[in-house]
Amino acid sequence: MMAVKLSPRLLAAAELVNVNGSVCDVGTDHALLPCYLYQKGVKNIIASDINDGPLVAARETIEKYIGADCPIRLVKSDGLRSIDYADNVIVAGMGGELIARIVSECSILKPDVSFILQQMTKAEILRRELYKNGFRITAERTAEEGDKLYVIIKAEYTGISEEISDAFSYTGLCKDKKYLEKQKSILLKAAESCKNSAPDRYSVLFATAQEIEKIINEV
Ligand SMILES: C[S@@+](CC[C@H](N)C(=O)[O-])C[C@H]1O[C@@H](n2cnc3c(N)ncnc32)[C@H](O)[C@@H]1O
Repeated sequence: MMAVKLSPRLLAAAELVNVNGSVCDVGTDHALLPCYLYQKGVKNIIASDINDGPLVAARETIEKYIGADCPIRLVKSDGLRSIDYADNVIVAGMGGELIARIVSECSILKPDVSFILQQMTKAEILRRELYKNGFRITAERTAEEGDKLYVIIKAEYTGISEEISDAFSYTGLCKDKKYLEKQKSILLKAAESCKNSAPDRYSVLFATAQEIEKIINEV
């Protein structure tokens, strides 16, 4: 069997999976992650996508790396709407708002289900929505690919809705200085752009950047 090689981003997501449980990879596209996890010994895997094209590509990848009789199940689904159960839910490579929507609509809400989320944009919205919808973040890690720095969030359901601070929405549990610096500079840029037009907004953004500066100094 040819071994699947994952990019650092997908490898970081794979490393947060509990390989003793079942997995659903939502928005699987090429299905490289499910194939990798199958080769690592995960027995029960669903690779799902909302579109037919990615499911065809997923089938080709599965046949290439594992074989036509591979038990990875392909399911057409909008988010988790057609998925009954998984111990690990992975949603990677989508915008933060779409991931937040997919997770908030999820009906698999047992506390022992792990949600492994890798957003391409708007991590601050994803973190805020997770807490608002009764989730909490249990781990975060980063992965670098060229000049890109990705953050991967692991969350679980608690059922307790919480408001989080602006600073936490930008940093989460991440302690990677490079990521924290990046988040600070996003805030400073946003603050600068509204300095004259919206001074109250400027003060909030600037104060949040200062809080992140404190976190950076403590790391
Ligand atoms: C950019 S690809 C990411 C592929 C892979 N997860 C990764 O991280 O490399 C996004 C995939 O999500 C799928 N997608 C978009 N919206 C979706 C939804 N609501 N439910 C399930 N899949 C979705 C797209 O069809 C596409 O295949």
